[in-house]
Amino acid sequence: MKTKTIYACQNCGATSPRWAGKCPSCGEWNTMTEETQVKQSAATSRRVLTENRTNTRQKPILLTEVEQDNQERIMTGIAELDRTLGGGIMRGSITLVGGDPGIGKSTLMLQMCANLAAVQPLYVTGEESLQQIKSRASRLSLDFSGLRVLAETNADEIVEAMRRDDVGLVIADSIQTMFRPDIESAPGSVAQVRECSALLMQAAKTLNKAVFLVGHVTKEGSIAGPKVLEHIVDTVLQFEGERIYSYRILRAAKNRYGSTNEIGVFEMSEDGLREVTNPSEVFLSQRNAGESGTAVVAAMEGSRPILVEVQALVTPSSYNVPQRSATGLDYRRLQMIIAVLEKRLGLALGKHDVFVNIAGGLRLDDPAVDLGVAAAIVSSFRDVAIQADTALIGEIGLTGEVRAVVSIEQRVNEAQKLGFSSILLPEANMKRFSRETSPHLKPADRILQALLSVVGE
Ligand code: TYD
Ligand code: MG
Repeated sequence: MKTKTIYACQNCGATSPRWAGKCPSCGEWNTMTEETQVKQSAATSRRVLTENRTNTRQKPILLTEVEQDNQERIMTGIAELDRTLGGGIMRGSITLVGGDPGIGKSTLMLQMCANLAAVQPLYVTGEESLQQIKSRASRLSLDFSGLRVLAETNADEIVEAMRRDDVGLVIADSIQTMFRPDIESAPGSVAQVRECSALLMQAAKTLNKAVFLVGHVTKEGSIAGPKVLEHIVDTVLQFEGERIYSYRILRAAKNRYGSTNEIGVFEMSEDGLREVTNPSEVFLSQRNAGESGTAVVAAMEGSRPILVEVQALVTPSSYNVPQRSATGLDYRRLQMIIAVLEKRLGLALGKHDVFVNIAGGLRLDDPAVDLGVAAAIVSSFRDVAIQADTALIGEIGLTGEVRAVVSIEQRVNEAQKLGFSSILLPEANMKRFSRETSPHLKPADRILQALLSVVGE
């Protein structure tokens, strides 16, 4: 077998024939490490997969003769997980579950195996002993009959185990501990992570069995080792949450079999992850109603509306360049909202620091939260609290207009359900409602008009 020494960036996976202090691709420092590239890795993985098999050469066939995927999905029974996956687990698919260490990935994977006896799951652990898995399982008090466990880190052996008839689904926890003996680099290196994942991916496809890879995330938030992994797998699920809070959000960052808008919400409890079926209640449970600088927005997360508190703190700056900080929302979006407030409302924010935070560690990419963000900033700036029963919906345009948003009925319904009796929304969305029967709906087409009604003196 022909081998060659290359240098691979442990951050982005880029390779180069020469060492460099700074990665030429992503610009990170001290991430290039020496790796041995195995020339025939594809051929060897094919060999691992096809031993005992004959006639594996593929011939071109007519598309009309290709059998339809019967789309049969394995339902895990955990609704929050099934929805995030796009409606259960696809047979023959490979899913990466990424997240910070300690966030609950192993717990989620183990819980997924409960009640799946019919699918014959196999949990391969490279991080924990079988005893540790056992003690976690007893803590969860679920039905684990039919679940097999295996302590193994050699990916070739894992494929061997996958070939057994009594295994239908495999979890490899974690991909960073797995290795292929052909490759000289240490487990966790880009080369090992990539080759092990590629092998398990091929095994998933050829054996038509579902595979889950667990991967730790680096502090920068990318899945360790590398972006290369994200291209290999069918689905990337990110398990997120703040350590200090008990709830966790499962997000599909990539999904070949479904939408990437869906999220699953869980709460880590003493006996495992509990599904949170009404996320708004959780996110509003620690609300600071009556304080200035907070506003409630009705955002959409995938197909579900979620009510969340936006917090803003506006304070005189002690620096020449005032600070702006956005946690849980896009930084540039915040800058745009501040610019609109300065220009259209004449708010003098140039000498003030502005901090904005989406409470509860949620991240929102929904422009409909703009109006709430603006209201929270003005509320903090003027030190005037927004009425506790007010929820805000609306995107802000550069001319200071309040723009229509999608899914207006769902947002309004959710806010009503949670007892909000004054709901600000874009005028352009009002045609969906009857003005006579909905006096609690307050339409606005200009941000000035909207904000005067909630934080005006
Ligand atoms: P774990 O699933 O091991 O995280 P990961 O695989 O992502 O590293 O979960 C780790 C944390 O979850 C650990 O700090 C203990 C906590 N935990 C609970 O609070 N309740 C439970 O029932 C379980 C199993 C874990
Ligand atoms: Mg773990």
